Amino acid sequence: MFRRPRRNRKSKAVRFHAQETHLHPRQLIYPLFLVDGQGIKDEVKSLPENYRWSLDLLLPEIESCLEIGLDSFVLFPAVADHLKDQVASYSYAEDNFYLKALQTIKEKFPEACLMTDVAMDPYSSDGHDGLVHNGEILNDETLDILAKMSVAQAQAGADIIGPSDMMDGRVGYIRESLDEEGFTDVSIMSYTAKYASAFYGPFRDALDSAPKSGDKKTYQMNPANQREALVEADLDYAEGADYMMVKPALPYLDIIQLLKTNYDIPIAAYNVSGEYAMLMAACQNGWLDFEKAMPEMLLSIRRAGADVILTYFAKAYAKRFRDGKLG
Ligand code: PBG
Repeated sequence: MFRRPRRNRKSKAVRFHAQETHLHPRQLIYPLFLVDGQGIKDEVKSLPENYRWSLDLLLPEIESCLEIGLDSFVLFPAVADHLKDQVASYSYAEDNFYLKALQTIKEKFPEACLMTDVAMDPYSSDGHDGLVHNGEILNDETLDILAKMSVAQAQAGADIIGPSDMMDGRVGYIRESLDEEGFTDVSIMSYTAKYASAFYGPFRDALDSAPKSGDKKTYQMNPANQREALVEADLDYAEGADYMMVKPALPYLDIIQLLKTNYDIPIAAYNVSGEYAMLMAACQNGWLDFEKAMPEMLLSIRRAGADVILTYFAKAYAKRFRDGKLG
């Protein structure tokens, strides 16, 4: 045997030479949930070790992330029911606590990269990402609301706008609105291939944002489809997206790879709440070893082609990376 593949696995040093994929904490984006109020750190039951934070407690949390080399965050608001309406007007209201919080975080930690979420569901009394009329989701009428929300978030200091709504044409519409207001440097990370997935359950618990009726299948993609992701990607690319995201990540690694091979902009993947919950549940039961399974899970997403990963494991990974505990 002249070729013995095991030689390249013989020691830690040699294994590292042969290692094709690496994952640095700066490639991670940490999702955080915000609530209005003070002194709140309320654990999301289906998302262990993740909390709904009030701003006063979130600030030190962000600081502790920055200290360990985790500098990117995606923020989601948990909005009180009485502030929700059919047109999501609170999403761009003057006194919106989420927008005020963004501004404060940005002022305190200018080096933090802040990504926002653009979709109607956290603010909608219908719990849908778009406007609901007679049980249907209105596409074009939703665009204006999404654009107002995006501009408000850019004004508050967002670095990256993240449209997660899956309405047609929204990336271009948002890009134009941002540019008209002078926010040409604000990036758009489009949720390009977002599937109608069962893995969003714990996230909807966190925000109490589940649809009041129906499901999201008329706008989120059919989990059976691969080529359709290229249709979405072509549009988002043409409309000026700076990053394209695949969501969820693990059950859709083929889609991540497809976008990575076909496009020349950064590809992101969202390791969603259900993927996190699944691993945590197994680890809490003693069925899987967290220290090994967690980095393996993240590395697989990176190996499939993700340049950035949005993950609830971000802080846990960054800590272990800093302590030299990862491969
Ligand atoms: C909604 C939105 C969802 C997530 C991010 N933005 C859920 C949904 O579409 O219902 C899910 C994230 C996760 O599960 O971690 N616009």
